Amino acid sequence: MVTKMTSKEHLDEVLASYRECPNPRLVQIMTSLTAHLLAFVEETGLTRDEWMSGIEFLTATGKKCDDERQEFILLSDVLGVSMLVEMVNQKPTDSATEPTVLGPFYRPGGPELSMGDSIAPDDSDGQPLIFSGMVRNASGEPLRDAHLEVWQTSPEGFYDVQDPALDPMSYRGNFTTGVDGRFFFETVRPVDYQIPTDGPVGVLLRTSARESWRPAHTHFLVTCAGYKTLITHLFDASSPHLHSDAVFGVRESLVVDMNHDEASFDLVLDVAGESPVN
Ligand code: BEZ
Ligand code: FE
Repeated sequence: MVTKMTSKEHLDEVLASYRECPNPRLVQIMTSLTAHLLAFVEETGLTRDEWMSGIEFLTATGKKCDDERQEFILLSDVLGVSMLVEMVNQKPTDSATEPTVLGPFYRPGGPELSMGDSIAPDDSDGQPLIFSGMVRNASGEPLRDAHLEVWQTSPEGFYDVQDPALDPMSYRGNFTTGVDGRFFFETVRPVDYQIPTDGPVGVLLRTSARESWRPAHTHFLVTCAGYKTLITHLFDASSPHLHSDAVFGVRESLVVDMNHDEASFDLVLDVAGESPVN
């Protein structure tokens, strides 16, 4: 009698197909991905209809992508994958600022501003807020020539790229620290906003009775020669969505009081090469 192939033998056969691959890292990634995917199919007893729904969902996700919209990144965000990638890659030491997701609305090439300038347009109707603090290392030494890229939504909850009424690069600005490492700039208080829900990711959230809100935050991307790049946000402590962020990006250490005119926070960078990944 011919014995039937087991799922383990099937997995081994699929993995063996990579035996000639010259790239060991690709083999490692495909081996782990394949093992987890096949285990998922077996563990859930995935039906043919469910498999087809998954294929249709991924097809719709691809069709929603263009030069401005990246629905796959949004999918990765709501699955909790993007945040874990940052945790695995940025790995701060205990004294450094915790990272969070970059998000799909980062744009390089923001306007280079002077300390004290505003990233909000003059006619913004938001609640004025000044962010201030120091870019420093874990020993408390101020970091000179640290470059901060800052971005957030308008008081209506839209990034410049989402709202035709906003001039390009509104609510974005870059700052370079001086010898004292200090930064301070004007903005308006960030607001809670919904991630885009007009695509397949929105369908997934609604079907799963999940939240589509992100708690109010301002994004920071900080670079400084000799130090690890920091990608993070500062969250408004008053937000009702701190415990239900659609993309799981909130960290307690990043929550600050924005109730008053000024919010203060030091951005602490790790020396490059101090932890496993840079
Ligand atoms: C953001 O904070 O800009 C963001 C992050 C993930 C998904 C959507 C928006
Ligand atoms: Fe954001």
